Amino acid sequence: MNYQGKTALITGASAGIGEAFARAYAAKGADLVLVARREDRLRALSEALRDAHGVGVRVIAADLSDPAAPQAIFDALAADGMRIDILVNNAGFGLPGFYHENDWPAHRAFLELMVNSYAQMTRAFLPGMRQRNWGRIIQVSSVAGLTPGSAGHTLYGPAKAFLVSFAQSIAAECDGTGIRSSALCPGFTYSEFHDVNETRALVSQLPKYMFMEAAPVVEGAIEAAERGRVVFVPGAWNKFIVWLAKALPRSWAAAMMKGQSRQFRRHNDEKSSIRAD
Ligand SMILES: NC(=O)c1ccc[n+]([C@@H]2O[C@H](COP(=O)([O-])OP(=O)(O)OC[C@H]3O[C@@H](n4cnc5c(N)ncnc54)[C@H](OP(=O)(O)O)[C@@H]3O)[C@@H](O)[C@H]2O)c1
Repeated sequence: MNYQGKTALITGASAGIGEAFARAYAAKGADLVLVARREDRLRALSEALRDAHGVGVRVIAADLSDPAAPQAIFDALAADGMRIDILVNNAGFGLPGFYHENDWPAHRAFLELMVNSYAQMTRAFLPGMRQRNWGRIIQVSSVAGLTPGSAGHTLYGPAKAFLVSFAQSIAAECDGTGIRSSALCPGFTYSEFHDVNETRALVSQLPKYMFMEAAPVVEGAIEAAERGRVVFVPGAWNKFIVWLAKALPRSWAAAMMKGQSRQFRRHNDEKSSIRAD
């Protein structure tokens, strides 16, 4: 795969999976537009990628939980005559705790970033792709979007399930064109995700085979998008979990999620009592 002459816009490129997408596309010759809030991180990455691969890199510092951000990004690029051929909607975080423990502004900001910004960025850049009859759109979802909901991070699974269905709808609309729409559904991946949502201590107790490095997750996703696979689950363990969620009778799957939810409630209660101490 060679993307010379193409431009890839990646949201959440300052860390983890987004940074891995930036490194992978730059290595394959694409120019980049990197979006996230931490401009210093994006600038350091852009310099490294320019030096290593000779690609053009533009940095846009933006908070995508601001409803005005996607249009502002589109307008800034359009003003400079820049076109986007590859869109990777990836920026994200997890909001820990029970649904009733987080206030509505926190949930609203979560939905704005994890659902609306993905939909709006796609709406902004898809018309140009259709005009040129070429495009790649990857929505970074999760295994959580393909398994039943559980306690804690209440809106995370529903938001990720939306992205799977959204990618499928866009793929159906673009069938027969040069545009590929896909959802990447990773499981546990080494990144800053679990530090940001303060679950590092909990997830570090899990066996190592449940985790993947970001680079192979991304390489698989780029290749799957190229082959026109609409839903891509990287790694044998993650594929097994998704298969299990589909293959098990509903009552068994529900019982498994109940066990996981019980574990979350116990952890949450312990954390609350530590805070109370
Ligand atoms: N790691 C996993 O185990 C895992 C598993 C399944 C799915 N995912 C999904 O993968 C995606 C990337 O997560 P990651 O694991 O790479 O986490 P990460 O290392 O914490 O990176 C998250 C990225 O999102 C950006 N971001 C967060 N809030 C933002 C906002 N309001 N506006 C703009 N950018 C924002 C962060 O940049 P700034 O802080 O600089 O803004 C950062 O670049 C997420 O959608 C996540 O749900 C992760």
